[in-house]
Amino acid sequence: MYGAPKSDVRLRKITAPELRARKGAGPKITMITAYDYTMARLVDAGGADMILVGDSLGMIVQGEPHTLGVTIDEICYHGRCVARGIERAHLVGDMPFMSYQLSPMQALESAGRLVKEGRYESVKLEGGGVVAEHVARIVAAGIPVVGHVGLTPQSVHAFGGFRVQGRGDEAEARILADAKALEEAGAFCIVLEAIPPDLAEAVTKAVSVPTIGIGAGPGCDGQVLVCTDMLGMGLAPAPKFTKRFAEFGQAAVAAFEDYVREVRSGSFPGPEHCYKPNHGAAPSEAPVAEAGSERPAS
Ligand code: KIV
Repeated sequence: MYGAPKSDVRLRKITAPELRARKGAGPKITMITAYDYTMARLVDAGGADMILVGDSLGMIVQGEPHTLGVTIDEICYHGRCVARGIERAHLVGDMPFMSYQLSPMQALESAGRLVKEGRYESVKLEGGGVVAEHVARIVAAGIPVVGHVGLTPQSVHAFGGFRVQGRGDEAEARILADAKALEEAGAFCIVLEAIPPDLAEAVTKAVSVPTIGIGAGPGCDGQVLVCTDMLGMGLAPAPKFTKRFAEFGQAAVAAFEDYVREVRSGSFPGPEHCYKPNHGAAPSEAPVAEAGSERPAS
C-alpha cells in the first residue's frame, strides 16, 4: 500500500508511557547520552532504553566549562544526527538554558521546536516547583516531559560550582517538594542528579513516576550516564559517580600513535590498502566504499 512504512521500526520504539509504566514493575530504566549518529547507533545496539541529547554537549562536544551557551538550534542539529542512528531507544532532548525559564508559553514554543526540528520524542528541563507550570503547559500540548532536580547544571553559578545538592533538612525537603511538583505537573520521569543516596531513595518512594539517577545511588528506578564518561574517553579522571566501563580514550591515543608511527615509517598504507595500479588494470573495478561510509539503512 502506498504510504505504508518500509518496516515496523516505529512499532518497536520504546515510548514514554511504557517507560512511565515501569515504576514498581521494572526492569530498571537505562539512559545514556549521545550527541551524534555513530554514538547513537552504538548506544541503541547496546540496548539502552533512552538516549539523551544532553546540553552536556556544551562541555563534551564544544569543550566549554559549562552548559550555559548551548542553543536550541544546536540541540536540534544534534537531535537530527542522533535520531538517524536509533531504531529502538526513546529520544530525549535537553531544553537549553533560557529556552524555557521566561514563561510557560516560551517553554511550549521551545519544546515544540525540539520535537519538530530535532526529532525528539520527549524533552527534559531543569528545576522543580518553579517550572511546574511550564511542564504542565508542554504536557498539555502532547509532548512528554522528563524533569530534572538536585544538581541542575544550568544553575552552576548559583550553586558556586558543580556540587552535591540536598544536604541538610531544608535542602532535602526542597528536593522532595520539587520532585512532587514535577510529578503533579505531568512529568513522566524525573532525573535526580548528585544527591545523597538516601534522599534519592526517599524521592523514589514519594513519587509515582520513575526516577533516573546520576550520582544518586542505586535506589532509583533507573540510571543515566554521559557516554564519554562511561567509555573512559576523557583523558582526565571521570567524576566520582561515573563508572568507566571501557578505556576508549587510552585505546584511541594508542591507535593514533600507531598510525603516526606507521605513516612515518612507510608501513602504512600497505599493498592491501591500495587499488590495482593503472598500468594493466581492468577498465572498471567494483564500487569502493567512501571513508566513514557506514550509512543508515534508509
Ligand atoms: O546534559 C546532560 O547530559 C544531563 C544528564 C547528565 C542527565 O542532563
